[in-house]
Amino acid sequence: MVIFKKISDLQNHLLKLRATGSRRVGFVPTMGALHAGHISLINRARANGDITVASIFVNPTQFNDRSDFDKYPSSIEDDISLLAEEGCDVLLLPSEEEVYPEGEQKMQSYGFGYLDGILEGAHRPGHFKGVGQVVARLLDIVNPDFVYVGQKDFQQCIVIRNLISLLGKENEISLTVCPTIREADGLAMSSRNRRLTEPQRALAGLIYQCLVSIQAKQMDSSFKIVQKECMDLLEEKGFLPEYVSLADAADLSLLEEYDKSKKMVALIAAKLGDVRLIDNMVIN
Ligand code: PAJ
Repeated sequence: MVIFKKISDLQNHLLKLRATGSRRVGFVPTMGALHAGHISLINRARANGDITVASIFVNPTQFNDRSDFDKYPSSIEDDISLLAEEGCDVLLLPSEEEVYPEGEQKMQSYGFGYLDGILEGAHRPGHFKGVGQVVARLLDIVNPDFVYVGQKDFQQCIVIRNLISLLGKENEISLTVCPTIREADGLAMSSRNRRLTEPQRALAGLIYQCLVSIQAKQMDSSFKIVQKECMDLLEEKGFLPEYVSLADAADLSLLEEYDKSKKMVALIAAKLGDVRLIDNMVIN
């Protein structure tokens, strides 16, 4: 695996690689503290035969909460070994100055309309503006043919799909959404899980159980009732639930009730201590 800190070096390398063969570039943007969820995206790119490019950059502009940014886990040496073992071809490890050479304020930003005001957008003001900013910049740098993202961040997947359209790149870049990788108890893998204490970790699988119950009860219960049961249960066990919601999986328009004519997605965000966890499940 070749590691680049300078964008121009990465671009020269990719130009050479592209010139020597017909392989296309598959890109996996990350913020590091890598786990099996991230690696599943790398494997998907490799299985597609791509020149696999990963980036690790903890993007300050997408953190609405400064302490979340300060405490964001980092394990760069382990990340590098893992990516190399898994056959990633190229890693971009840029500094903030490389990503935002004129400062973050001067970077072009994008609005996502309705998506900015619901769920993650509502609870993390400015978050998607930051995601849009950094992903647009990274796409510009890497110029990939394929981008791989995780369903774990369902709303982010739709935001990135919209961003690719806003950039007019929908014919150049193919976006693949990969399934959520989970721990044995159902907890969605997340870099932030490393910050859970042992007792918190033992409780964290409850979010997945709530999603399963939302799925299971669609036949014989009202979503409003199941939603309240989940909120109450999470609170009772010591979580601070932010939302337990149901939406149309196609465009994330929120649903008050189960609607079997639509592909639905249930989404939960809840804090355990100061660790904020999100998860979702597509309901068929
Ligand atoms: P990060 O949280 O590091 O996630 C990088 C990618 O891994 C995202 O596409 C995310 O959805 C995916 N991912 C995370 N956990 C996963 C899991 N358990 N199963 C499958 N995929 C999973 O998301 C970001 O970084 C940033 O917002 C980024 C897009 C890099 C922009 O800064």
